[in-house]
Amino acid sequence: MRNTLSLLAPFAMLAACNSPQFHSGDPLREQVVNVYSHRHYESDQQIFDAFTKKTGIHVNLVMADDDEILTRMQQEGANSPCDLLMTADAGRLGLAKVRDLLQPIRDSLLEAVIPAHLRDPDGNWFGLTMRARVFAYDKRTVDPSHLRTYADLTKPEWKGQVLVRTSEHVYNQSLLAAMIAHEGPDSALVWASGIVANLAREPKGSDTDQLLAIGEGIGSVAIVNSYYIGKLMKNTDPARDQARAVIGVAFPDLDGHGTHVNISGAGVARYAKHKAEAIALLEYLVSDSAQALFAEGNEEYPVRADVPIARELAAFGTLTPDTLNLQALATYNAEAVKLFDASGWH
Ligand SMILES: [Fe+2]
Repeated sequence: MRNTLSLLAPFAMLAACNSPQFHSGDPLREQVVNVYSHRHYESDQQIFDAFTKKTGIHVNLVMADDDEILTRMQQEGANSPCDLLMTADAGRLGLAKVRDLLQPIRDSLLEAVIPAHLRDPDGNWFGLTMRARVFAYDKRTVDPSHLRTYADLTKPEWKGQVLVRTSEHVYNQSLLAAMIAHEGPDSALVWASGIVANLAREPKGSDTDQLLAIGEGIGSVAIVNSYYIGKLMKNTDPARDQARAVIGVAFPDLDGHGTHVNISGAGVARYAKHKAEAIALLEYLVSDSAQALFAEGNEEYPVRADVPIARELAAFGTLTPDTLNLQALATYNAEAVKLFDASGWH
């Protein structure tokens, strides 16, 4: 008898969890989704507010940096309140998958509108917007025909000209991880060392700081994410006039594969208590209106081909994105960090 009871107990608990007052759509149920996010953009709140207005599902947002969020989810384990993890880098989402912090989702809408290379093949994470890691250059001095590939920037003609943030930042780690995936570690190390040899100054600051440094004439080419240039072009701060006036954009090619892109994306947490709401939010984030807000509000490339890109981005030229599956950015992240160390790019 005791045995029967102990066997039944877990089912009883399951039954309690599925009792009618917890069913989605029931007026007694509090409709919420808890989002852990590393995205640092004002436009996101607007998108969440529109989602709440449309669905009645309230979005509780916890913001922290990527590593903090993953550590926190790990420490919370099965008690984690996180339903949806959002980050501004596929490498971190891939790492969350490897650490078993996410769960696979099959969703025909998400699979139909998000290109396959921008989502996890197992459905643990989905890309919502793209950003390209491009070259910003000084139009006063640079001929962009000399900047056709990432490798071009390692040529001696750029000695003392290159601006970039530190290798501690995941945007650079993901770029190098993509190079490792395509060309192998030896080529990736040659590239990183070549950039170090051409630096205008010690790597420091944000992507925006590199753009402002071009305006000041500190260097003539910067490696930056596309949306920072779009935002600079939209910015009306007179202190940024100089940078705005002189910057042009080149889309470098990576070994014949196109320009390195990364994503902002999201995945349903392994222990999500509001899974249906998390999926509803994911689906909303690829809707026309949310994609348009990502594009206009944050100068990101929509993952949906049928949503227009912002005017500022369109003016830069045409992006041909690398179609490497971005789970590779997690696969090669640790190796990229090691190669940066070896190259002297700190
Ligand atoms: Fe960023």
